[in-house]
Formats: sequence, C-alpha cells, structure tokens
Amino acid sequence: MTQIRPMRVGILTGGGDCPALNAVIRAVVKTSVGFGWEVLGIEEGFNGLVQYKTRPMTAANVSGILHLGGTILGTTNSANPFCYPIPGEGGCMVECDISGTVVENFRRLGLEALIVIGGDGTLNIAEKFYQKGIPLVGVPKTIDNDIEGTVTTFGFDTAVNTARDALDKLHTTAESHRRVIVVEVMGRHAGWIAVHSGIAGGADIILIPEIPYDIEKVAHSIMRRERLGKHFSIVVVAEGAFPQGGELTHAEAKPLGRERRLGGVGERVASAITELTGKETRLVVLGHLQRGGQPTTFDRVLGTRFGAAAARLVRKGAFGRMVALVPPDVESVPIREAIGRMKTVPVDNDIIESAREIGIGFGD
Ligand code: F6P
Repeated sequence: MTQIRPMRVGILTGGGDCPALNAVIRAVVKTSVGFGWEVLGIEEGFNGLVQYKTRPMTAANVSGILHLGGTILGTTNSANPFCYPIPGEGGCMVECDISGTVVENFRRLGLEALIVIGGDGTLNIAEKFYQKGIPLVGVPKTIDNDIEGTVTTFGFDTAVNTARDALDKLHTTAESHRRVIVVEVMGRHAGWIAVHSGIAGGADIILIPEIPYDIEKVAHSIMRRERLGKHFSIVVVAEGAFPQGGELTHAEAKPLGRERRLGGVGERVASAITELTGKETRLVVLGHLQRGGQPTTFDRVLGTRFGAAAARLVRKGAFGRMVALVPPDVESVPIREAIGRMKTVPVDNDIIESAREIGIGFGD
C-alpha cells in the first residue's frame, strides 16, 4: 500500500443547512483521521476563514452526530468573501472583495487542502478560490436537488419526506372541511421537492417553475374535481413557481452579500383560487421545516459516502472536483461543470408524464 502523506485539512459547511451535513462531516473526519491527517473545522462557512473561527476536529467530537440535523460547524448564506458586506462611508453597508484575506488566512492556518460542503452558491465561491490557488474539493449539498453532475444531493430525500408527511396530514383536514389546501414548498428555481412530495403525498395539482401555470386552469381542475364529488383539493406550489407571462414572487428585496429569497407564491395562488372557485382555501407554508430534522436512511448513507469520497479525492490530489452520485458509484466531476447550470425537472421526463396520466394537474 502506498504511504499517505500527513497533512492538515480544513472542512467547512456553507449556505443553507440541510439534513445529513453532520453525516458528511463525520465521514470526512473519520476517514481523514484514518489517513493520519489533522482536520480543522472552519465555523460558519467562509466566515470562519475571514474571522479565524476554527476548531480542531477529532473522531471524538464527531461521535454521536450522525442522526442530527443541521451542522455542528454552523453555516451562513451571507458571507461571500467576493462580495462581503462591510461598513462603508457614513455607516452604510457596502459589498467588498476580501477574498485575498481568505487565501492568506488559509495559508496562515497551515492548511494544505479544504473540503467545502455546500450548494450552488457555496460551490461557486469554492471554484473561485480554487482558481485563486486554494487546493479544495467540493461536496454538493442542498434540499433543492438542483446541482448538476450528481443524480441527487443528500438532504433532498429528508425534505421530500417532511413535505410528504405534511401532505398526508393535510389531506384529512382538507377532506373533512371540503377545503382547498395550498402547500408552498421550497426548492428555489427547481420543482424537485414539489414534484416528488406531491406525487408521494397524493396532490391534485403541482405547480413548478419548469411549467408556468395558468390560474384559470388551476381553478378549472378544482371545479372539475368538485363535479366528480371530490370536494377538497391539495395544491402543492414550489416557491419558484410563477404564472404564464408573469413574475417570480420574492419574500424580500435583495439583501447585501446574498441572494434574494423566494416566497409568497402560495399566498397568491390561494387567494386567486378562493376568488375564482368560491371555495374556502387555506395556505400552509412549510418553509424551514423542510431543512430540519433527522436525516433519512438514504441521506445518512449518501452523506457518509460523499464525505469519505471527498477525503479520498484530497488524498489523490484531485482538486477542483466535486463528489457526485453517478449510480451505482460515487464519482467526481469538475466543480466548474456542476455550477455552470442548474438541474431542473425535465418536463418531458416520465415522472411528469406519469403524474399527468394519474390525473395530477400542472396548471398548464
Ligand atoms: O437552498 C435551500 C433553501 O432552503 C431554498 O429551498 C430556499 O429558497 C432557501 O434555501 C431559503 O434560504 P434562507 O435560509 O435564507 O431562508
């Protein structure tokens, strides 16, 4: 067996949290310790490298975290070092490129490699740091399942299960009260969570960004069910869904140093349904519930495989790459290929065709 060179490796989690992040951290640390490496945990994403927030990671301090949601390292989606919010003239916050400080701090900490666990935004930052000379590998993370190059990401399965469980519960109350219940789910500009939870949870209508909807058609489907004696309907709306010829709905104006948050389309859809059908309609926004809780078995296994594979990539010196599920194996792809475009639900895929064939409407 070839000798493994001793080294000091950093690990960070960036962007929104997601179930099974701890499974990845645990696998990275255990595998690295097995290779004889020292691991430094960087707290709060890239912020830890800006503000020197680090902690040593040993097999002992990743013990007992496999089943926990969240991330023991903390995370943030508002600390992009390439447009970092700092106080400007007159106390107003301005965006500033402080990436040079991060590269310097990485070296000062004696790090020889970095494992970055994050979604699209964090992997974009990682690629820029790789271009600036930081030897790093990526691990794709997101409940949204919108990262190219990997068949799925850990966290997605748990989020879908949470949404499906909510739909199961909402069915009985919708039916008892003869109501329409609109359920807004996360997913950014991709409808993966909506499609999977909607099919598994028996939704009647699913609205996704990939298929702009016509609210008249949504109302029509509800009234057709009414005529068939089905006096309730469950409508799943992805937060990134928008009407034909219309706009996305945002929860806020764009904050400094981070992406603008989506949210509110469920409210739009619910009030239009009441207006067009006269039916009593209720709205449930699942929000961050989808990001929390114990990871499913699938996510724990995938997270563990990704974490161990990331450490192996470092061992091989395969920097600038991201681990990826290419069944049956975990392989790797260049990070730049994965971040080039977003993986959305293919509308000509059998999943949509099958959903349509069993009577689910997409509002088109
Ligand atoms: O990307 C994960 C995600 O949960 C999206 O589904 C959602 O749009 C966004 O993060 C919410 O971000 P925040 O943590 O800023 O509320």
